[in-house]
Amino acid sequence: MPGGDRPTEGPPPLPRGWVRHPRERMLITPIVAGLGGMIAFFVVVAIVIWLPIHTFDPPPSTDWAPLSSVALKGRALFAQNGCYVCHSGYTRPQDVRQSLYFLYPKVSQPGDFWGKDQSPNLLGTERTGPDLSQESGWHPDDWQRAHFYDPRFVDPMSLMPDMKSLFSDEKIDQLVAYVEQRSGKSGLLRYAGQLYAKHVVLVNQGFPEPYRGFQGAHKPIVEANGKGLHPPSAQLEEAPNLSQIDRSYWLSGDPLPVTEENLLRGKEVFLQRCVGCHGLKGDGKGPAATFMSPPPADFTDKDDACCGGDTGPGDFYYRILRGWPGTAMENFGDRLSVDDIWRVVLFVKTIPNKTLAKNRLPVPSDYIVWQPTKELLAWVKSHQKLANNADFVKKPVTGPFLQEAMRVFPGLAPGDSMRLNDGKTQLSIQSAAGGIRALYEDMLNRAWSDARARGEKLPDPMQKDIPPTVPGQQ
Ligand code: HEC
Ligand code: HEC
Repeated sequence: MPGGDRPTEGPPPLPRGWVRHPRERMLITPIVAGLGGMIAFFVVVAIVIWLPIHTFDPPPSTDWAPLSSVALKGRALFAQNGCYVCHSGYTRPQDVRQSLYFLYPKVSQPGDFWGKDQSPNLLGTERTGPDLSQESGWHPDDWQRAHFYDPRFVDPMSLMPDMKSLFSDEKIDQLVAYVEQRSGKSGLLRYAGQLYAKHVVLVNQGFPEPYRGFQGAHKPIVEANGKGLHPPSAQLEEAPNLSQIDRSYWLSGDPLPVTEENLLRGKEVFLQRCVGCHGLKGDGKGPAATFMSPPPADFTDKDDACCGGDTGPGDFYYRILRGWPGTAMENFGDRLSVDDIWRVVLFVKTIPNKTLAKNRLPVPSDYIVWQPTKELLAWVKSHQKLANNADFVKKPVTGPFLQEAMRVFPGLAPGDSMRLNDGKTQLSIQSAAGGIRALYEDMLNRAWSDARARGEKLPDPMQKDIPPTVPGQQ
């Protein structure tokens, strides 16, 4: 070929002193890439999942308690039915600050989730419904059953699906047991308080135990058995009821004026929140009522509205704010504003005048003014003395059982002693604390022996003897 400087075939010549790189095959073949990817993946899995599971083993917290075998079966139902998809199972610090005394009384600790009966964990992430790690004891079992049968029965605005498919006696009782016993020792203590209060309310008002299992969906509303309900002489008939209301509320009035606006807003609140139990007519015959004992209060009686011993505006306010332990009456303290509670109290006092009728605007002349009776005034005078008035004196109470008794019977002062309306059963803050302690210890012992029978690892027996706490109430 003419022209001497044309390159010949093959690679171009290299500058002097350079060495040609040997020809090589590319190293990142699909197999190498696949293998490398797998190694990277498993290293991450090992660090993020395997290592924590096998090295993070916090000791049980002082609040930890095992689950009874019935509750453990309920836990399986909780998992199978995807409850954890809407309900997380751990309380964060910001939850506790948001609602101090209801549902989120304490921040969860790693040691609260110790033990085999907590595995696989049901922590969840979504909070479509409230976190349920501290649910135990806030509501009695009859509330839980009505709520599972149809959440709209107790909360007309609820979006929770109904659990009618679980309504065989066994299953629903297992689920209720789990919800009521899952919150460690402090939850068992609260549940013991709820059970004790139920006992007191039923004996005092003369009602039978609520239906178990799914019976509540099919039976008529329970009636008082009227067995010798004679209040002991010299004791106000409503005294045991008042013992569940902080004394400072016994005679307080409603701070809001009786205006059309306030009454109308009160009616709206009643229709949105209360009709599932108290009924569209306010007669206590809402769809949830058949599950409950005692059944929801009937507001249609004029005499009760004007002159009842425990139907003053302050009493109603306190019950709606904090609930009525031992009954299904629930705590609206962190769902309704203070003013809305006072407004619904105003409205309830118009119900005997048929203000719940459709398209009926409640007006101030419908409002029934409440007057304390002579007997009530005398009772209050003898029980609101500053010297023995627990509300004002607020001595620090030590001992969880006494604290829980005071939470459930906030109207009892340490020196008080009364009889329930069966004429026999004694009620005092000390006897309540003793009863709550017995119930608590019985449940804890049963859970421990169940866990031992299941062959589970249990902590040092000393852990069991560490007393429970009443979080958020000190
Ligand atoms: C679609 C979401 C969703 C699912 C699934 C769900 N819930 Fe709920 N749950 C809610 C909502 C929202 C509330 C709050 C309104 C109410 O009280 O019904 C609630 C409330 C509750 C409460 C009452 C909390 C309280 O004290 O106020 C309990 C107990 C409860 N759920 C248990 C369960 C159980 C057990 C399951 C499974 C069988 C379940 N939930 C499935 C959304 C859900
Ligand atoms: C889950 C059912 C339920 C819901 C919801 C409910 N209540 Fe109740 N309520 C009860 C029960 C049960 C009682 C106890 C009756 C008894 O022991 O005699 C009660 C008692 C009361 C009392 C005390 C009555 C008295 O004579 O001392 C008032 C006041 C009251 N409820 C108002 C309300 C208001 C207002 C709402 C709505 C914001 C409401 N309740 C929602 C079940 C419920």
